[in-house]
Amino acid sequence: MQSVAVSAPAKLFILGEHAVVYDGTAIVSAVDARLHLKLQVTTAPLPTVTIQAPDVGLQDWQAPLASVLSKDSFAGESRFIEATLVAFHQQHPLQHNIYIETHSSFDRNYGLGSSSATVAATLFALSRLFAPHASNMQLFEMGLEAILLAQGKIGSGADLAAAIQGGTIYYKNQRPRQITPLSIPTLPIVAVYSGQKAGTTSYVRQVKAVREQHPNLVDSIIQTMLDIVEEGKVALLQQNWLTLGRLMNVQHGLLHAIGVDTRALAEVVFAARSARCDGAKLSGAGGGDCAIVLASTAAQREALSTQLDHIGRTILPYTLNADGVRVEEQ
Ligand code: MEV
Repeated sequence: MQSVAVSAPAKLFILGEHAVVYDGTAIVSAVDARLHLKLQVTTAPLPTVTIQAPDVGLQDWQAPLASVLSKDSFAGESRFIEATLVAFHQQHPLQHNIYIETHSSFDRNYGLGSSSATVAATLFALSRLFAPHASNMQLFEMGLEAILLAQGKIGSGADLAAAIQGGTIYYKNQRPRQITPLSIPTLPIVAVYSGQKAGTTSYVRQVKAVREQHPNLVDSIIQTMLDIVEEGKVALLQQNWLTLGRLMNVQHGLLHAIGVDTRALAEVVFAARSARCDGAKLSGAGGGDCAIVLASTAAQREALSTQLDHIGRTILPYTLNADGVRVEEQ
């Protein structure tokens, strides 16, 4: 038997969400809320795949390996792992019994990218055993293929890139896609759950529909979002929090303009403004999930906690700029 234990981080969009979908760019940071995965492989004449993922209601999920590898459409909670096995098998043929166990250290209702963390962790574990020289870019390409198989052609891949690479990245969703690590010592951003779970794909579709109805308007908003990413990258590298905060506020306004803000997210943003934080915005697709707040001083974070108390919210206990996929002790 061979086995490996790994983990992959969650992610938060700092800037560029939605704009990145249209061949754009984004800045995304890995979050130290991690998806842990254990992979065991053994030889068997008729290999099977077994998945234990109690967080998503999978207990003793099992299927013959051959039937998983011959699938071209996937459904249910096992779909991201199954699609990852298929994508990996296309490059590195699999013929073992596969046992996978996952455990998440974060609530997947937060919208922190549990699917991309699952794909990243599965790929990384497989590569440790069967393709130890695979580069992050090769893992990323296989992961994109898996996500395409599991959920169709929607999404930029930015969250997967952050889960694999870790830290804070500048991501270019153009051919060839580019993942550029941004070397920053700190990122004093905190996350706050809005209390509502959102469905990413429906908000991506909603923005696409608004863009089709008002192409000129929405394209110029997208272009401004991309300008914000470029200025944000400079501010981030200079650790210029006042500028980065201002840019986050503008990005939030533009996300509001394209219809993905909610009252609960806006309440967090206004709480951050009352606390005189550097900036705040919704993070990701919108419609719920998390907002992020740039609070570069202890006084700001304290005032933010007080303001959040008034609306029944708290700062999530996670730091950003976290490690990407990594091996864990078994
Ligand atoms: C969702 O987390 C971020 C979006 O930009 C979609 C994507 O990049 O795949 C809205």
